[in-house]
Amino acid sequence: MSAQLWSPDIWRKKPATQMPSYEDPAQLAAVEKTLAGYPPLVFAGEARELTRQLGLAAEGKAFLLQGGDCAESFAEFTPDNIRDTFKVLLQMTVVLMYGASLPVVKVARLAGQFAKPRSLDVERQGDVELPSYRGDIVNGIDFTTEARIPNPDRMLQAYHQSAATMNLVRAFALGGFADLHQVHRWTQDSIRGGASGQRYVELADRITDALEFMAACGVDASTSPHVREASVFTSHESLLLWYEQALTRQDSLTGGWYDCSAHMLWIGDRTRQPGGAHVEFLRGVGNPIGMKCGPSLDPDELIRLIDILNPDNIPGRLTLIARMGSNNVREYLTPLVRKVEQEGRKVVWSCDPMHGNTIKAANGYKTRPFERILDEVRGFFEVHQAEGTYGGGVHFEMTGQEVTECIGGAQEITEERLGDRYHTHCDPRLNASQSLELAFLIAEMLKGGRRTSELEAAA
Ligand code: PEP
Ligand code: CO
Repeated sequence: MSAQLWSPDIWRKKPATQMPSYEDPAQLAAVEKTLAGYPPLVFAGEARELTRQLGLAAEGKAFLLQGGDCAESFAEFTPDNIRDTFKVLLQMTVVLMYGASLPVVKVARLAGQFAKPRSLDVERQGDVELPSYRGDIVNGIDFTTEARIPNPDRMLQAYHQSAATMNLVRAFALGGFADLHQVHRWTQDSIRGGASGQRYVELADRITDALEFMAACGVDASTSPHVREASVFTSHESLLLWYEQALTRQDSLTGGWYDCSAHMLWIGDRTRQPGGAHVEFLRGVGNPIGMKCGPSLDPDELIRLIDILNPDNIPGRLTLIARMGSNNVREYLTPLVRKVEQEGRKVVWSCDPMHGNTIKAANGYKTRPFERILDEVRGFFEVHQAEGTYGGGVHFEMTGQEVTECIGGAQEITEERLGDRYHTHCDPRLNASQSLELAFLIAEMLKGGRRTSELEAAA
């Protein structure tokens, strides 16, 4: 396999975009050495298990929910933030599991999602121009010359924050916090308190019935780990390759290389050049990987990339995360899906309805209209329905806090209210209510889609 001709530093021979230039190479080298001596954050066996589960999603037997912060930050590193994001992810899971009647594979954008690609290298405010903010792992968000200087030591802080975050998430997942009944009670409370209340009561009641039926069959938290525990995986964009390389380790069981900074890594829409450093790096690690697919990706280039990233056509190895924009998704996704299908490539198709739907509000805030996010998801499923393929997942930027960053939804957040609680370090996220609302709407789509397929099969 091509990975034999691969080594963790091989990317250094290729052009790398979106990476900072550090002033002091010796300081960078020292940080790399320190990181390389630290414990891995995940175990290779877990990454293989995620590939297996994603393999089910590639075959239409599971559904992927990937979500979390656009950019984690050092400033907002609190147990409450981690807990609340995890809690909403669990609530969404239960709703989607019911909608899809399938297991939901949970992958958090958490515990390592620090590095950000930027459209512009510089940011201008008035007459002042400074290097762009590239995520807390690279430089600081404050608009000062000093803050914007890339500092390798930030990688160490990102590592420690990721380790602590991961530790808490694992504790929540296994320690009783993720109990299905508990999670569903939160959802019922959210619905009662929320603006969209009545619309989801019926679906929530059906979930209650299903849980009661399971309990009557003897399946509850005291008898079944599936009710009491959750398996949650971590993911982030593999962008800052010095960091990723330093955490790449050879698995003692199989001898393969794994990037142990997270279970799943993805390549961003700006760094997916077939001859580029980011593709070169990820092709050699054994983790399941994702690739963002934006409107500029052409079908032949996609096949070339699949040849490089998944030459053995392993289901679950590669997740294609489409982020076309609600206006483009129907037109641009169709040829990609068709080509992949014609060529017999096994991939998970996931929908990121966030990154193609960012607009600037009149008052200057970057925002995303809830309606467009929803419409892109709808378009994504329409394309798959029309092509006879499986839309296997969704990818969101979201938080458990009640921020005001995306407009619309049942709370009817207006442009004027964006300033109330606009906390993101990068892109606008769905808040807790909007995330849950979207999960209900997607669950309805999935239920509707299954009904149509069943009717077609019966006809
Ligand atoms: C992201 O997921 O935060 C991101 C930058 O996405 P994309 O590469 O699709 O623009
Ligand atoms: Co983003």
